[in-house]
Amino acid sequence: MPVEQPSAEAIDRAAGLLRAGGLVVFPTETVYGLGAVAHDARAVRSVFERKGRPASNPLIVHVADEAMARTVTSEWPDDAQMLAERFWPGPLTLVAAVRSGVPNEVTAGGPTVAVRCPDHAVALELLRAVGSPLVAPSANPSGYVSPTLASHAAGHFGDLTILDGGACSVGIESTVLRMDPLEILRPGSIGPVQIQAVLGRTPTIAERSANGSEASPGRLGPHYQPRAHTVQVGTTAELAEVLQVSGNQPCVVLAQPSVSIEPPHQLIEMPVGAAEYAARLYAALRAADAAEPELIVVLKPTGSDEAGLWSAIAERLSRATG
Ligand code: TXA
Ligand code: MG
Repeated sequence: MPVEQPSAEAIDRAAGLLRAGGLVVFPTETVYGLGAVAHDARAVRSVFERKGRPASNPLIVHVADEAMARTVTSEWPDDAQMLAERFWPGPLTLVAAVRSGVPNEVTAGGPTVAVRCPDHAVALELLRAVGSPLVAPSANPSGYVSPTLASHAAGHFGDLTILDGGACSVGIESTVLRMDPLEILRPGSIGPVQIQAVLGRTPTIAERSANGSEASPGRLGPHYQPRAHTVQVGTTAELAEVLQVSGNQPCVVLAQPSVSIEPPHQLIEMPVGAAEYAARLYAALRAADAAEPELIVVLKPTGSDEAGLWSAIAERLSRATG
């Protein structure tokens, strides 16, 4: 079985595989990652190959602590230190100047490196057992929905060792924050208000653009997409219309409570709270996709906030629905 319970022995074996140049899937609090030793250029290249990921999209380097972060960065600004002290381990990725010796593959040849310390006991034990930083993009083929369960990753990388850490508690990827200039490149569960509370300055939020000039290449183009055609609707009236047009072609609907759906359509009920919604989102999209419906319809969640978790969820939904 590729999926293993994360006993001390299993983590040691996985660390050995990584040190020997292999790939291992491990859990984090956000999503499962496809790990490789960051300083092993060959292993890093095989991560890109296995994911079908464009070489132009840099990887996040995972570290056990702030001391390990300093081994891959050439400058560690006071602001980075303050944010790490407040939010690490946790779902905040910091983009800072890269130290020489980090393979070009990791940074896509750029001058910066993204680093984060994951808040998951298995990830931290694995990092300590390996003793050096690990790259870990989400453990899914490039463009598809990220994995929040070991079984999701096993569907893609069944030949690899997969450490089972249970369901990811956060459920959407980390906030990616560039330090200089201070800008959120990818929204996540740690929002501008929390960052402002630590630094006394509010980061700008990168706009999605299609012109390729964007600082976080991973936000270009389609992402998080099920195989089935997926659309988002804003109101229950619009939902009824879409279902009527599809007639007896079965659709799967993701909607918060009090929406009723008649066969042949199927409802996946989504939570009311933002944290619960985020934690459930990718598993729900994957369950919907597994039913091979004509269409997946997401009823836009009603929760809203200025720039917090709901806006990160909205970004994922708009990407998932093309
Ligand atoms: O929560 C997460 O961050 C998960 C778990 C496994 O840690 N990882 C993850 O990795 O989401 P990935 O590869 O799926 O997404 C990495 C994102 C991409 O949008 C990429 O463009 C951006 O981080 N990124 C990486 N290095 C960067 C850099 N030097 N400058 C700007 N953006 C960078
Ligand atoms: Mg990803």
